[in-house]
Amino acid sequence: MNLQLVSNHKIENSQTDNFHSDIVEGLKSTPKKLHSKYFYDKAGDRLFQQIMAMPEYYLTNCELDIFKNKTQEITDAITFDDSPFDLIELGAGDAMKSSFLLKNLTDNQIDFTYMPIDISGNILSVLNEKLNNEIPELEIVSLEGEYFDMLDKATSISNRRKVVLFLGGNIGNMDMEESYHFCNELRRKLNRGDILLVGFDLKKNPHTILNAYNDAAGITSSFNLNLLVRMNRELEADFDVLNYQHYQTYDPVSGACKSYLISLAEQNVHIGNEVFHFEENEVIDMEISQKFSKKNIRNMANNSGFHILNEISDSKNWFVDSIWQVV
Ligand code: AVI
Repeated sequence: MNLQLVSNHKIENSQTDNFHSDIVEGLKSTPKKLHSKYFYDKAGDRLFQQIMAMPEYYLTNCELDIFKNKTQEITDAITFDDSPFDLIELGAGDAMKSSFLLKNLTDNQIDFTYMPIDISGNILSVLNEKLNNEIPELEIVSLEGEYFDMLDKATSISNRRKVVLFLGGNIGNMDMEESYHFCNELRRKLNRGDILLVGFDLKKNPHTILNAYNDAAGITSSFNLNLLVRMNRELEADFDVLNYQHYQTYDPVSGACKSYLISLAEQNVHIGNEVFHFEENEVIDMEISQKFSKKNIRNMANNSGFHILNEISDSKNWFVDSIWQVV
């Protein structure tokens, strides 16, 4: 059956923004900590696009290799039963990789609705325009907001079986404990038989990993510093951005790749009535990009109520899209 375009609509998250309270809480903790989910304002989206195009940032090309060259393998795994489904993408961005799958599914006349979830309304508009041009027959319901709120919304809109994509190594932006918790939460929101496809960046030569986050052009540095710029603009903070420096680490044993901002002087920063004191060389913990072994992935699937259906790797074996099913 040929899928007809039913509607293209965007559902906005009505929940109040936690930006201010999360930031204040993070700056009050020891060490100071900011959540990397707030990197993605308009400038942050642009910087992340630039990161994905950098020669050092191999993650995008690896997963693109999988989605371009192993599309049918992914299609077979998620259409093992031919009932219609909702294809939900957490943190869809511009759907650069998933668009190959979307095209293959539509070409094969498979009955599904694409539900991209992203915290950035800006990127969802870009995505909608792009997909309307590239795959006009695709049915899209865009959901702007936090993953779990929007997943609830998706479940309330439709009771079809769910296939959830969580690509790009986004799971690495949580520490191990958080990602276990995340997978458990996800499983609780899904039904038996539903599918989760997660992209994991694998442990590899530590130099390759560190270079991807410590690029010569300093784009990753700007990406981190942009959060201070955002706070100045949106929270009327008074960070002197030139007084902070990006610092990246990778621990090949734990697989934790972490970014920090170092305060280059003793200084005070104001946000509304609050004052935050920084010692010289004090750090703000900005982001973790966790790397995984195959064993880490197996444990995570099994301990959160999934079994692994298939593991699809790129030609270099640097990245894996692991396809799990709720047991
Ligand atoms: C979105 N996420 C998977 C990226 C990563 O690799 O951790 C974000 C990023 N941070 C610095 N460079 C890219």
